[in-house]
Amino acid sequence: MESILENEKQILKNNELIRSKKQYNEYEMIMKIYQKAIENTLKRIEDIKQELNENYEYNIISNVTSRIKSSESILEKMKKKKLDISYENMIENINDIAGIRIVCNYKDDIYKIRNTIRKQKDIKVLKEKDYIKKTKKSGYSAYHIIIEVPVEIKEEKIYVKVEIQIRTVLMDFWATAEHKVKYKPIKKISNINSIKLAIYAKIINYINDKMRTIVEY
Ligand code: GTP
Ligand code: MG
Repeated sequence: MESILENEKQILKNNELIRSKKQYNEYEMIMKIYQKAIENTLKRIEDIKQELNENYEYNIISNVTSRIKSSESILEKMKKKKLDISYENMIENINDIAGIRIVCNYKDDIYKIRNTIRKQKDIKVLKEKDYIKKTKKSGYSAYHIIIEVPVEIKEEKIYVKVEIQIRTVLMDFWATAEHKVKYKPIKKISNINSIKLAIYAKIINYINDKMRTIVEY
């Protein structure tokens, strides 16, 4: 497998998470475990997709993507949370090192997917956040689930955390655009644009609901 990490020399130079060659190897080993957790979860999502297709006669899940959080983002988040920088603290406190995003068309699809995830026997649901019922002030809307999936290492089963975000296409469109200008800003966004984004989120939500009243399955 290709290395999950970015350029080794560059990381060693300026990253408090990876200060030595030894740590680099350890970090890479940990990230491989998260990668395995993503692969296992993606397999489960394939099964979930099948099951949903049998039950509902249309493709509920339209897109699935995944990513491993970069070492810079992990470090940034640990600092924001005022955590001492150690791998123990990282594994314990950073829930979205392994991240999966599931995109569908309608809000009710999100809950169908959620329910099917909850039913999976080998998946433990740790935490759920419903930003659809309770939209964030920014306008952000999605359903978040932190799960634990089993990963086998040397015949031992360990449980690894994965964050699943479930969004409609329109929620995803909004969040992707907003993320670029606001959530991880390079240049600070103006207040008026923040307000506009929150208003557009409401309009998008309205359209999503209205479309549903016309398009029935
Ligand atoms: P983080 O520490 O930022 O991950 O927040 P949290 O631990 O309270 O989790 P939360 O469920 O609020 O957010 C986790 C993820 O949701 C983020 O990493 C983003 O991918 C996404 N997210 C949350 N809020 C926003 C938002 O206002 N805008 C966008 N675009 N994405 C958001
Ligand atoms: Mg995150």
